Amino acid sequence: MKKILDMISAKMAAAFEAAGYDAAFGRVTVSNRPDLCEYQCNGALAAAKQYKCAPIQIAQAVAAKLDAADFSMIDAVMPGFINLKLSDSFLQSYLEAMRTQPDFGVEKEGTGKTVVVDYGGPNVAKPLHIGHLRSAIIGESIKRLFSFFGYNAIGDIHLGDWGLQMGLIISELQERQPDLCYFDESFSGPYSEEAPFTISELEEIYPAASAKKKENEAFAEKAHTATFELQSGRPGYRALWQHIMRLSLADMKKIYNDLDVHFEAWLGESDADPYIPAMVEDFKNRGIAVQSEGAWVIPVAREDDKKEVPPCILVKSDGSAIYATTDLATMVQRMQDFKPDRMFYITDKRQSLHFEQVFRAAKLGGIVPADYTLEHLGFGTMNGKDGKPFKTRDGGVMRLEMLIRDMTDFVRAKVIENKIVDDDQVEATTAKIALAALKYGDLSNQPTKDYVFDMDRFAAFEGNTGPYILYTIIRIKSILAKYGAWENLPIQPAANSYAKDLMLSITKLAPNLETALRTASPNVVCAYIYELAGCVNKFYHETRILGEEDKEKQAGYIALIGLAKNILETCIHLLGFSAPEKM
Ligand code: ARG
Repeated sequence: MKKILDMISAKMAAAFEAAGYDAAFGRVTVSNRPDLCEYQCNGALAAAKQYKCAPIQIAQAVAAKLDAADFSMIDAVMPGFINLKLSDSFLQSYLEAMRTQPDFGVEKEGTGKTVVVDYGGPNVAKPLHIGHLRSAIIGESIKRLFSFFGYNAIGDIHLGDWGLQMGLIISELQERQPDLCYFDESFSGPYSEEAPFTISELEEIYPAASAKKKENEAFAEKAHTATFELQSGRPGYRALWQHIMRLSLADMKKIYNDLDVHFEAWLGESDADPYIPAMVEDFKNRGIAVQSEGAWVIPVAREDDKKEVPPCILVKSDGSAIYATTDLATMVQRMQDFKPDRMFYITDKRQSLHFEQVFRAAKLGGIVPADYTLEHLGFGTMNGKDGKPFKTRDGGVMRLEMLIRDMTDFVRAKVIENKIVDDDQVEATTAKIALAALKYGDLSNQPTKDYVFDMDRFAAFEGNTGPYILYTIIRIKSILAKYGAWENLPIQPAANSYAKDLMLSITKLAPNLETALRTASPNVVCAYIYELAGCVNKFYHETRILGEEDKEKQAGYIALIGLAKNILETCIHLLGFSAPEKM
């Protein structure tokens, strides 16, 4: 169904026309003076210039043509504004339509379209860090927004599973256990099902190897060779790689599951590998890629570039593929297997140049058409209270599990202290509140900006926080539960000004969700539900709901808060968390 502002604008346009003026002047906006009116139209001021008469005259003539049934106030005021308040019946029928239509009547722009959302991007066998947390949280929300708007949204984790880290692990393992069959080129298999290491050993091997690479050139060389041999199919290395993948993925799946982050496709850089040779050949043959200092590169600079955009490196001088190569080959795979209408990437903003190069190269090379929509959302850094990138207490890189554990411990203490639930419910309730605190704390900031991780503030039950939103939902649910069956009660005209404010806030769902999707800003959803929750709580405080004696009136109150609850629940789903039973 139409957004309410579009409906009012259409009525205003018709009134301009009926009064003899161009309908284009009838654009209505939400009032910037809520003390005076709810909506306003400034079109008469512009029209006055064209029709060479006083704006107030036009405003009055247009106001007279509006249908009085739609508005409780139509005011033409100096110098020529038209101020409006909606009538109770208009608002009531709009909300009743929202209540009864699927997904509150929000129009689905994505029906029939497919989008790949590339997010998460963890690196196998390397610990997940905070950058991966942001990608997972923001990406999951953006993917859910796409789904809500009817897109077939495919979340692809795009594992970093093919790079130098694999060669490093293999080389380190060889130094530690040279007699393993994986290093014996005469071994003809089969290899054991069991890995020769545990996940905790694996987690220790990578940092050790990475440190060794920095001070030991021969080792670095060895790791490069091992990477190359793995990619060329050396059986022992492939078998080791399988072990690494299996252990690491099991571990990752658990973390993402705890974060309520789910991927439709668990593909990685390695899955793009088969597409590389043909793509590179083709780019060379068609002159898309050119040779430069032994490497093959795709020049992507444009004349109007403000900053220098270096060529996209396709094949390094030693013949190996790099990050950009796998990203391009992955696009080939996606176009073939998923046929998406657009692709959306979510990473740290420090990767912006990489994506600019890759997007240009993909279009030059014809992997996607020149007008295809490739988008990169580069997010900012999560900082500590000192304004520097978030670290552990001893100054190390903060690992994702530790951050989640800290938040969970903090919330659990509150849950226990406030005796919120029975003992056997403590863990489940804690997990939901902690997730809401973590995700809302992140998502309520504009993604491109840096933000400060503040556990106290994020986990507070009051203020602009996830737990406050959960609390509001649970409060409404408990009233609804006490009332009884409410799902089919119709919306009634606003009973008081708090009800009207709540109703006006409810009508803003569609425009806010549209803005959130169009600008890839889950923070718009957060700001919206914070406002909506405030309206619900205000209404609740000022209105006797369960104590109301007039049953008809009471049913109207219940229908209204029921609708608000459904919207809040839908919105937190779009943010990627859900409410516990009690709080
Ligand atoms: N694995 C990469 C990293 O940790 C992120 C991958 C992002 N996605 C992509 N298609 N490049 O930085």
